[in-house]
Amino acid sequence: MKYLVTSALPYANAELHLGHVLEIVQADAWVRHKKLQGHDALYFCASDTHGTPIMLKAKEQRIAPEDIVNDMKIKHEHTFKKFNVNLSNFHSTHSDESKDLVYELYNKISANKYIYSKDIQQLFDDQENIFLADRFVKGGCPKCKADDQYGDACERCGTTYDALDLLDPISTLSNTKPSVKTSKHYFFSLSVFKDFLKSNIDNFSKQDPVKHKLNEWLDGDLNDWDISRDKPYFGFLIPGEEDKYIYVWLDAPVGYLSSIKNWCEQNDIDYDQLMNTEDAKLMHFIGKDIMYFHLLFWPATLHAAQLKQLEEVHVHGFMTIEGEKMSKSRGNFVLADDALSYAEADFYRYYICSKLSNDISDIDFSLEDFVQKVNSDLVGKFINIVSRTIKFVHKIGNGKIIYSSSKLNESFAGRYEQIIAFTDNREYSKAIKEIMSIADEINAYISEQEPWNLAKEGKNDECLDVCSEAVHVFQSLNTLLHPFMPEITKRVQELLNQTDLKYSNTFKPNIDEINEYSHIIKRLDIKEVNKLVDSL
Ligand code: MSP
Ligand code: ZN
Repeated sequence: MKYLVTSALPYANAELHLGHVLEIVQADAWVRHKKLQGHDALYFCASDTHGTPIMLKAKEQRIAPEDIVNDMKIKHEHTFKKFNVNLSNFHSTHSDESKDLVYELYNKISANKYIYSKDIQQLFDDQENIFLADRFVKGGCPKCKADDQYGDACERCGTTYDALDLLDPISTLSNTKPSVKTSKHYFFSLSVFKDFLKSNIDNFSKQDPVKHKLNEWLDGDLNDWDISRDKPYFGFLIPGEEDKYIYVWLDAPVGYLSSIKNWCEQNDIDYDQLMNTEDAKLMHFIGKDIMYFHLLFWPATLHAAQLKQLEEVHVHGFMTIEGEKMSKSRGNFVLADDALSYAEADFYRYYICSKLSNDISDIDFSLEDFVQKVNSDLVGKFINIVSRTIKFVHKIGNGKIIYSSSKLNESFAGRYEQIIAFTDNREYSKAIKEIMSIADEINAYISEQEPWNLAKEGKNDECLDVCSEAVHVFQSLNTLLHPFMPEITKRVQELLNQTDLKYSNTFKPNIDEINEYSHIIKRLDIKEVNKLVDSL
């Protein structure tokens, strides 16, 4: 099976933060897991470049929007790498491949008569000469009258409304009162696809809370989707128009496909053939805020264009910091790159994965818990197994592990299978809990057998036997942990001279001569890590 895995395309107007890391680590771990199973798995992402914010930023800085998105693309790619994410390709929605694929999609949908135009009224900033997107207008909530609310929804009472209904609206771009202007917009007939979407819920999602939400949306009214924006805008023009653009959210998911296509071009692979093979599966990892786009708009547009249907979407909750939403004003906004000054990437990966499950509730990052988990699990349980045993393997066995001593490892086969199944089902927290519980048992076994006393008493064979049993299990745990911590497990792999990491190797003895113990990881110091968040 060939898995084509994606994570949501980060906006090219800001650097990545720890919340983004949660998503890319979740996706990368799954790709690595699929490879350990022996599958072909590839990970694609790209910069999401189009829209009003980038156009405005470029205008303000008096540079071309292309320059902003090119710079940010390099930064994003770099951050992925620093978090040990194994990307097959990181492309851009502002690319030739995207343009071709977006127009192919648009023209097919249009030819199939699922696009129509109509005049709509919108708030217009006369000073800046621009129609105001919801986030660029503020005013009073028409329901509860709270001041200073954005044009789409009230943060106080939760009501959603049309920006035209705001009380005393003000443009946030010029601080002037907007006027109301009419403009022709293009719409996608989403409502036509209600039955199609409803009958495919189980294909798109395997998560109950997501299916529940989809049912709720599909049982209500589905509005057709406004897919055009007036100039000035940074994006692709609507075919046949000169001042109307394709809305960023219609072209953004096409970026997944264009990243795949660009990779195919670089690797001399036939894109159409790849996408149409029966055994290729698309898997999107996204956050819960963009479910509507991925589970309604995206499958409906693909279906309308009769293109390959997406296979599955996996949704995660939001990362909070010490129980609070991340925000610049709260001082708890952690940029991904900055986080690496306080702890190595795999520590964040491990901590995040140890909390990720199959549901979509939020995931809290607590500094004390982070330090505690890394020190107690990784240093105190996992690495402890080898730091207590390797020296005897060298003293007594010249670094050679005994092959016949792998009874413990064999006895864990059923639990290894269970761990692999948990990871497959994106229940990383359960997988990690089980791995650590086996590590606990092995440490207890070492404490009970006291290899240091056996060595002292000259019971060399027994000592080597105990240590070999422990190291065999340890190498299996290392393989099982690999999706979550690729860098640390690679260091261990070198220490143990472990050949290819594969799940099939966890069920049988797989190592022979190991190196002398050398330092693998360092304990975290809470005083250092606390500096991660300004507000603490
Ligand atoms: N550009 C769109 C996605 C287009 S996909 C065709 C976008 N970009 S984003 O940069 O705002 O977010 C990218 C991903 O990061 C989304 O899946 C989003 O849910 C996720 N997260 C953003 N903040 C997050 C947290 N605080 N926690 C976890 N994930 C977060 O949306
Ligand atoms: Zn309100």
